[in-house]
Amino acid sequence: MDAKTSETNTGTLAVGEKSWKFPVMPGSIGPSVVDISKLYGQTGMFTYDPGFTSTAACESKITYIDGDEGVLLYRGYPIEQLAEHGDFLETCYLLLYGELPTAAQKTDFDYRVTRHTMVHEQMARFYQGFRRDAHPMAVMVGCVGALSAFYHDSIDISDPHQRMVASIRMIAKMPTIAAMAYKYTIGQPFVYPKNDLDYSSNFLRMCFAVPAEDYKVNPILAKAMDRIFILHADHEQNASTSTVRLAGSSGANPFACIAAGIACLWGPAHGGANEAALKMLSEIGSVSRIPEYVKRAKDKNDPFRLMGFGHRVYKNYDPRAKIMQRTCHEVLGELGIKHDPLLDVALELERIALHDDYFVEKKLYPNIDFYSGITLKAMGFPTSMFTVLFALARTVGWIAQWKEMIEDPQQKIGRPRQFYTGAPRRDYVQIARRR
Ligand code: SDX
Repeated sequence: MDAKTSETNTGTLAVGEKSWKFPVMPGSIGPSVVDISKLYGQTGMFTYDPGFTSTAACESKITYIDGDEGVLLYRGYPIEQLAEHGDFLETCYLLLYGELPTAAQKTDFDYRVTRHTMVHEQMARFYQGFRRDAHPMAVMVGCVGALSAFYHDSIDISDPHQRMVASIRMIAKMPTIAAMAYKYTIGQPFVYPKNDLDYSSNFLRMCFAVPAEDYKVNPILAKAMDRIFILHADHEQNASTSTVRLAGSSGANPFACIAAGIACLWGPAHGGANEAALKMLSEIGSVSRIPEYVKRAKDKNDPFRLMGFGHRVYKNYDPRAKIMQRTCHEVLGELGIKHDPLLDVALELERIALHDDYFVEKKLYPNIDFYSGITLKAMGFPTSMFTVLFALARTVGWIAQWKEMIEDPQQKIGRPRQFYTGAPRRDYVQIARRR
């Protein structure tokens, strides 16, 4: 991919008496970049940017976030419009291929995904190796990583056809694998996918149907689930996506790369925040206890954070959180839940935080994880499944980013350097002579 344009300018780095020039390239929208790929060769110095707060690790055309304005675009389309008018498989097509599908393309894509939803029957035996109380994310990391043991015909990453087959398989099988992880932990039999159901209805049925009776999918809940998947589908170079790219840069097979992304997403600072946010709301328990927790969140000596608040990029309201809040009200309304104490706590906590100087100064707003937990709990999911649902939805983003990296002629194995402050060279000391 060539981002260099005719308007490429140059920037100058001056250190002491010396100075060097580096190309400055404009993005199609958003910040320009200074190409420092030759900095070490020219200067003998590295840049230092822990957490990559100012570092573009790659060129991408997939997702764009304007953190100051609270804007999220998938291939240029605002998340609000995609969530309002489209469905999750349309978003998958858009992220993978770069354009919204025509009616014929959508029908074909839906057909191809639907007919890859079953997993190899021996996968079912793989689950038996876990304890029943295993966290479903541990099961997901294990089972997704094991997929490459079953699908040898889609792991040659140099073959565009195999890359696409692996992409379709991942998108199609994640709901089945996730539902099986849930069923296993609650001791219920696995439910096979049904090809006459749409993606999200199929998933809800595989999670909540039991052989003892017919299960009718609630279309309002299926639509809410589908919208939640759209909101979580991709998000630029977040920690788990960067993990997938780095794993893929070594040539690892796509199933192993997605398993690495799942492992990274699990952390409470990232995808695990939805589970942590609901636990936090439950621990706060009532509106009267909010001031105590807000005080703790502001205390530098207290590791407590308001889970579901703050974001590396958004310094404004996460646009997904607004849609998530609306979906939360829709789901609670459909389920006849007139009063949810957790929602009361969440709404009051948000109101207080958005008027508190600490959060205003640090530009800490609710993120997507703040309301998702309340919604998913109301839909019947245990907190341990929240991050699994995030991983299910994010799989298309990971795959699209992985595919973009593999197809980028400039890509090479990712191998960051370091700012070394350890011991200089020194000779070995025999144990008898050590003090
Ligand atoms: C996701 O990257 C993505 O795109 C991720 C994601 C995606 O879709 O992939 O959007 C999904 O992971 C959303 C984020 C979910 N995590 C949480 O809700 C956990 C709580 N949030 C924080 O841990 C934190 O806000 C992060 C991790 C999300 C962002 O951390 P940064 O960018 O490293 O910022 P920071 O920790 O340096 O915080 C800046 C300041 C600090 O104060 P000072 O040291 O400057 O005095 O803000 C404070 C922090 O102490 N702060 C908070 C806070 N978040 C940041 N204080 C209280 N509560 C919080 N939640």
